[in-house]
Amino acid sequence: MTTETTTETTETVAFPQDRTCPYHPPAGYRPLAEGPPLSRVSLYDGRSVWVVTGHAEARALLSDGRLSSDRQNVAFPVPSARFAGVARTQRAALLGMDDPEHQAQRRMLIPSFTLKRTAELRPRIQETVDRLIDAMTAGGAREAELVGAFALPVPSMVICALLGVPYEDHEFFEAQSRRLLRGPGPADVEDARDRINAYLRELIGRKRVTPGQGLLDELIAERLETGRTDVEELVSIAAILLIAGHETTANMISLGTYTLLRHPEQLAELRSDPSLLPGAVEELMRFLSIADGMLRVATEPVEVGGVVIRPEDGVVFATSVINRDAAVYPDPDVLDWHRPARHHVAFGFGIHQCLGQNLARAEMEIALGTLFARLPGLRPAVAPEEIAFTPGDTIQGMLELPVTW
Ligand code: HEM
Repeated sequence: MTTETTTETTETVAFPQDRTCPYHPPAGYRPLAEGPPLSRVSLYDGRSVWVVTGHAEARALLSDGRLSSDRQNVAFPVPSARFAGVARTQRAALLGMDDPEHQAQRRMLIPSFTLKRTAELRPRIQETVDRLIDAMTAGGAREAELVGAFALPVPSMVICALLGVPYEDHEFFEAQSRRLLRGPGPADVEDARDRINAYLRELIGRKRVTPGQGLLDELIAERLETGRTDVEELVSIAAILLIAGHETTANMISLGTYTLLRHPEQLAELRSDPSLLPGAVEELMRFLSIADGMLRVATEPVEVGGVVIRPEDGVVFATSVINRDAAVYPDPDVLDWHRPARHHVAFGFGIHQCLGQNLARAEMEIALGTLFARLPGLRPAVAPEEIAFTPGDTIQGMLELPVTW
């Protein structure tokens, strides 16, 4: 290797990177944050792609039809070795599609995720949250591992009820989702995907014989039995809803709790005035940006931010940097729910903007609000450096969070 090449390699920022603090962007993204709104980064396989860090450019590009979400396109960027096979070997519903197919799938699901439908679920979410805190504190217990006892079961129980998936199977699908999102290698990731699909195929088969109550049952009756969809499409839709429905929100609840515990002044304010909760959830979404690295590939030339993206160029969105663009959020590294945080891209933007965002907001508000109200002495049970969090190529959050109160 020549000296010249070495210099070039060290100057290119690697993407994605692990966070050094679970609630701040990776320290290694600093040159990106200080640089232009679009620059170049290198992926694990040495490929050079565009990284978007400017807020205005991100929103423009996320709503531009010349960028594709088709993960089967060979030019689609892959964030790490473990995800090298999974996207190419099967078409993911919604997130892996472009319009008009994407729109057709989205239309059939939208009625189940409106603000009104989500509001109807609130009493059930509250009941779930209360029951889990009762179980944590039963018999005068004063400590728990918060991810397993609370952050994961809240969204997991809620998405099971919404879809009509039996919660008794939660250990199976939670373990497989973990392998799918954080498995050690590509074979594990693909195997986990296949097992989840096989499970859902079988569940749909059983439901066709003995219908139950839930979105899956509605889709079977209205779409499958009428020939408007087939089993494989339904399996892929159920899979994305089941996985996205619990993993992301679980990480927001665990990381949100940890972040508030590390910001005692803000937490005290929130405890004294629960009406601040909706704004706090929005600011936590911006601040934590747990889906840190949305991916696209260009299918046509796009001129933006002073550069031209060419067909087959990979584009990655550094969500944590975009959501701390100082031009939009003054003092971006400060957690402050008195700012209007609404325009963040933590739920994405454009046609793929998170379908479950109303539900996720309701779950976060109820889970965080109730947890801090019922456990006034809540605090981490171990030192910050002992708390394990997820690697940079997947949804950001805590692997475990031992707490006491
Ligand atoms: C706080 C929790 C959540 C976060 C941070 C989150 C984040 C995101 C992001 C960033 C996207 C866009 C990805 C892209 O454009 O590449 C997305 C899409 C999506 N999310 Fe969420 N999500 C959350 C909760 C949920 C929940 C609870 C559900 C389901 C019940 C869900 C279902 C989906 C689906 C189906 C899509 C794909 C939409 C489409 O392609 O049209 N998400 N989410």
